[in-house]
Amino acid sequence: MTGVHGLSSVGRRRLLIGGAATVAVLSTAGLAAGRQLSNPLAPKPLPPAPEPTSPTTRKVTLTAAERPVRLLGPDRPASPLWTYGEEPLTVIRARRGDTLEARLENRLPEHTSVHWHGLRIPNAMDGVPYITQPPVETGRHFDYRFVLPDTGTFFFHPHCDTVQQVGRGLAGVLVVEGDAPVPYAADVLCLLKDWRLDEDSGQFLDFLTDAGAAKAGTFGTVRSTNFEAAPTVRVPAGRDVRVRILNLDVTRVSQVGVMDAEAAVIAVDGNAVSPFPLTAWRMGPAMRLDVAVRAPAPGKAATVVDYFAKDPVPLMTLVGEGEMPAGPGDFDPAPLYAPTLPEPDLRDAEALPFTFSSTAVNQTVKTPDGGVIDLSRELCLNTATYWAINKQTWPERGHEFPPPPLAELTQGRSYVFELRNVTPHMHPIHLHGHTFKVLESNKVDRPVHWADTVLLTPKERVKIAFVADNPGRWMFHCHIIEHQDTGMMGYVTVA
Ligand code: C2O
Ligand code: CU
Repeated sequence: MTGVHGLSSVGRRRLLIGGAATVAVLSTAGLAAGRQLSNPLAPKPLPPAPEPTSPTTRKVTLTAAERPVRLLGPDRPASPLWTYGEEPLTVIRARRGDTLEARLENRLPEHTSVHWHGLRIPNAMDGVPYITQPPVETGRHFDYRFVLPDTGTFFFHPHCDTVQQVGRGLAGVLVVEGDAPVPYAADVLCLLKDWRLDEDSGQFLDFLTDAGAAKAGTFGTVRSTNFEAAPTVRVPAGRDVRVRILNLDVTRVSQVGVMDAEAAVIAVDGNAVSPFPLTAWRMGPAMRLDVAVRAPAPGKAATVVDYFAKDPVPLMTLVGEGEMPAGPGDFDPAPLYAPTLPEPDLRDAEALPFTFSSTAVNQTVKTPDGGVIDLSRELCLNTATYWAINKQTWPERGHEFPPPPLAELTQGRSYVFELRNVTPHMHPIHLHGHTFKVLESNKVDRPVHWADTVLLTPKERVKIAFVADNPGRWMFHCHIIEHQDTGMMGYVTVA
């Protein structure tokens, strides 16, 4: 992928170390979690985003293929990753208003597609096989072409046999720039992903287990950040740097924070928020968080950690280098430009309930010619479905014969979705093609913010609101991929 205009890659500079349980944990002595900021960061209005100037076209080729990668170390067996390029991670950088032209070449042994997660693009470009496009068979290609409507930190991934394809590494990062009125001194990617590897052979372990699928999901055996074990990144000392954290794991929910530096959340799922202090933010699979960090003094370190463990697990170390700036002043990151999203009209919105539950019942559907198909038997590798939305289940591999939509929305109307998690597990719930406002919860205190994925904690009820302004069939599902694969998926129509 290197050398292709608009693409850059993150290489592997260091080995991964053992399983999750053996990752060294920081000594917490002297470390301040959720440090008190020197400045309370009073809420600030977000400056309006300027119109894009001189948009260009970004052309990229994504060649999905198996490529051996020595994730476990240079002298250890390679693992058969599926990637979009020669480097394990493909990163596309463009600007809002640019046209992205991406050719997907499929050299995998099975069909695939590219879903552009979080992007409000036309339905035909959404990359869901059978629902928005024919699957791209082995040896074939598909051309995606759309204008990038929003700035922010996004990613892309396949949408069929996702548990295997993403489990083997198939995903890339899309950064849409142009949202920072005041440039940051550095822009650091922090991509979290676990791997299910047999540490002797380097081969992948089963991506889906019944025991995992029916509960919190099957966890990886090895954790990584940017395909390495907790890498160290050098950043300009004493300056404000931007860290784009992406949870691209299929299972793990991380609770991210920064130790030994002042840090503030500046965007959620790519959407600007008035900067607020980062203590810890729970990120389910698919969720992104942009964080401003005051870089440490020369030679000193700050650490991005996961607090969702007995002891904080280090994910990335930021080490200050170079001269301290003269009088850096209080930590007070400027807000990013305001999102350019349609504001839902809450007085006139229609409320629709969605209940996320477990189920033991398989679903049958009618084909257009009047036949009846048992989805789990005909279309799914699993004989069981474990999850449902509004009592309707839908195995991931069953895209070919979609059940009826969960809801039919009227184009241009505002909706409030009342999401109810009646299970004892967490579910990061994602809606395609729209960005919604997370309004309120019966359990978790979060600022109102825009998102494309919201984490429902056990028994939580959350209200989200949006304008259904994008016509088409839009998937609505849990992003713990085993849950998606075993029933917790449906779609809504907008017409
Ligand atoms: Cu990243 Cu259907 O999702
Ligand atoms: Cu789930």
